[in-house]
Amino acid sequence: ATAVIIFNQGNTPDREGLIVGTLLPDGAGVTIPVVGGSYGDGVALSQAGSTAHIQVDPPENRPQVNVLAELKGTNDDNVVMAGAHLDSVQRGPGINDNGSGSAALLEIAQNMSKLKPQNTVRFAWWGAEESGLLGSNAYVNGLPQEELDRIALYLNFDMIGSPNYVFMVYDGDESGFPAPAGVPIPEGSIQIEDLFESFYTKAGEPYDDAQFSGRSDYQAFILNDIPSGGLFTGAEVVKTPEQEAIWGGTAGEQYDPCYHLACDTYDNNSLHALDVNSDAVAAAVLTYAYSTETVNG
Ligand code: PHE
Ligand code: ZN
Ligand code: ZN
Ligand code: ZN
Repeated sequence: ATAVIIFNQGNTPDREGLIVGTLLPDGAGVTIPVVGGSYGDGVALSQAGSTAHIQVDPPENRPQVNVLAELKGTNDDNVVMAGAHLDSVQRGPGINDNGSGSAALLEIAQNMSKLKPQNTVRFAWWGAEESGLLGSNAYVNGLPQEELDRIALYLNFDMIGSPNYVFMVYDGDESGFPAPAGVPIPEGSIQIEDLFESFYTKAGEPYDDAQFSGRSDYQAFILNDIPSGGLFTGAEVVKTPEQEAIWGGTAGEQYDPCYHLACDTYDNNSLHALDVNSDAVAAAVLTYAYSTETVNG
């Protein structure tokens, strides 16, 4: 018999491994030969002939919170939101995923604190993203329609300092949400993409598209038709030779070799990517704090 074991690859609740028809009890472990795979716990587990020790971690039960901070603008009915998830996977400290986005937002929030912008700016540090986008879903789905209507746009920053980075901007033209859902990308999202792309052009940095796949906290905003955008420097996907020629780094290695692992520590960041992207976060938040006309008309 062959068992398919799905490891925790992201923010979907997929921590159960069904092994030869037997559901392992919590805390139990078993050693099995590996037939093959595409992506696992690091690269080793993908290789046929290796041996995997499967351990089911005991379930965690602890409260998580969203942290929200708002700077009131002259027009309080046009709210610019920017968010980053503050939690990490249980396995590691999550410095790139997502200390990077959280720190960039914190820096811009502190620097803006003495301003009185035109539009209200609301920062969100989401909880429990890794457990299935729980914090952002709870927040957005808990808002009545008249509160949703006050939100002009949402900017998401999840992994913006990957060590083997590619500068990517969420693509406002095309939905990458899994079929057959066919979730449309809200109008105005293309204009947000344009703003980040002109930032990179002025900074002399090359960029590419990232798909809106539904894998981060923008999901609930898009499902509620709120124009969205943001930045991403890559997770478990392997860099191509073409990308190495453009961005440097190492082809054949993951954008983030420590994605969801214990080694996602302070050293697991490109300081250059983090530097450029912190400025991009600041440019976008500040621009929209003064006008969202390009996005909302
Ligand atoms: N949300 C994923 C995580 O936190 C990272 C990710 C972001 C993956 C965007 C793909 C696209 O693990
Ligand atoms: Zn993650
Ligand atoms: Zn993340
Ligand atoms: Zn585009």
